Amino acid sequence: MAPDTNLPPPPPEAAAHSRELAERIAGTIADEGDWIPFSRFMELALYAPGFGYYAAGARKFGSEGDFVTAPEVSPLFARCLALQARQVLEATDGVILELGPGSGLLAADLFAELKSQGAMPRSYLLLEVSPDLRERQRRLIAERHPEELDRFTWIDTLPQSIRGFVIANEVLDVVPCSLVHRHDGELFERGVVLTEAGFAWDDGRLPDGELRRRAQAVLPPGDYDYLTEVNLAAEALMRTVARAMEAGAAVFIDYGFPEREYYHPQRAMGTLRCHYRHRFHGDPFFLPGLQDITAHVDFSAMARAAEQGGAELYGFTTQAYFLISCGLAVLVSAGDPTMTLSRLKTTSGVHRLISPAEMGELFKVLAFGKGIDAPLLGFQSARHLAL
Ligand SMILES: C[S@@+](CC[C@H](N)C(=O)[O-])C[C@H]1O[C@@H](n2cnc3c(N)ncnc32)[C@H](O)[C@@H]1O
Repeated sequence: MAPDTNLPPPPPEAAAHSRELAERIAGTIADEGDWIPFSRFMELALYAPGFGYYAAGARKFGSEGDFVTAPEVSPLFARCLALQARQVLEATDGVILELGPGSGLLAADLFAELKSQGAMPRSYLLLEVSPDLRERQRRLIAERHPEELDRFTWIDTLPQSIRGFVIANEVLDVVPCSLVHRHDGELFERGVVLTEAGFAWDDGRLPDGELRRRAQAVLPPGDYDYLTEVNLAAEALMRTVARAMEAGAAVFIDYGFPEREYYHPQRAMGTLRCHYRHRFHGDPFFLPGLQDITAHVDFSAMARAAEQGGAELYGFTTQAYFLISCGLAVLVSAGDPTMTLSRLKTTSGVHRLISPAEMGELFKVLAFGKGIDAPLLGFQSARHLAL
C-alpha cells in the first residue's frame, strides 16, 4: 500500500533530517555490496544512531505523534498489568524489568499503582535502546516519582539473570525482520537497492540457512507469489529472556497471530506496516527516520523460542481476555456493582483496549517463565488460544 499523498508534509528541519538519514542508508548500501537485506534497512531506518526513528527526537507516541499504544490509551492498561506484576513479585520477591518503555508512561503508571497498593517493587529496570527515549523516560519518572527515582535503573543489555516480572508492550513488532518472497516457485530474500529514483526493492538469493529453512517450513504450499516476514532477531530476544529467567514471568504484548493465521494463503502480501501521523501505509521508504516501521508478530515462533530458552509457556490469549482476567471490570467500576461489561465497553479508553474492532483481538498476550506454580492472573479466566 503506497502512502496517502495527502499525508501532512514534515516541517523543513524534519525533512532535512530524513534526507540525511536516507543518504546514510544509501552510503551503507554502497558499502555493503549495493544490496542490503530489508532487515538491515529497517534497523537503520529505526535505530541508526542519532538519526533512526527511535534513536532521534521525533515525537512518536500519543495524539501529537504517529501512533498511540495501549499505555497511552488508558491508565487502566498499566493498572491491570500492575495486578499481574504483583502476583509475580510476591511469588519471586523479584524486580520488574521493562523492555522498550517508549515514553515511560507504562512504567510511571504501573509503579504508581503498585505503590498505592503498598506493593512497591524494590527495583524497576528499564531496557531501552534509544538514548532519546531513555532521556524522555527519565524526565517523566523524575516528575512522577521523585522520591523513588533511585528505584529506577536504565540498563543497556539484558541482565544475565532475571528474577521477577518482565513486561514488553509493542516491542517485538519493531525488531527488524527479514522479508521472504516466493516468486515463480523460487524463494528469495527481499532487499533494498538504490536507484536514480531512490530506494527500491530487489529480490536476492536466499542461501541455505535458517531463514531459508524457516521460509520453507512456514509458507503455505503452492507456487503462487507470496511475500511475508520472518523475524529471527525477535526470536533470539525471546530465547535470551527465557534463558536469563531464573524465576518469574515475562509478558509480551503485541499485534500478531499464531503461525497458521500469520502464514495464511490469503495473507500473501505480508504484514509490514508504517505509521506516520496516525495513518498507516505499506511503504517503508517514505520519509526514513520520520515514520515507524513495524511487522505483526508470529506468536508461535516466539513461544517456541521461549521454550528453547528453557521457559515454560504460561498462556496465550487476546489483550481483551487478559485485561478482563486481570480485573479490568473491577478497576473501572471501582466497586459499582451496576457496571456491567457492556457498559464498560462504552467507556472510551476501555473500549479501545478491549473492543475486537480496535486493540482487543488483534493484540495478543504471550506469557512464559519459570517457577510460578499458580496460573497467572491474566490467564485465570481468559480463553487460551492455540499456538
Ligand atoms: C512501539 S514502541 C513501544 C513503547 C512502549 N512499550 C509503549 O507501549 O508505549 C517500541 C519501543 O521498543 C524499543 N526497542 C526496540 N527494540 C528494542 C530492543 N531490542 N530492546 C529494548 N527496547 C527496544 C524502542 O526504542 C521503543 O521504546
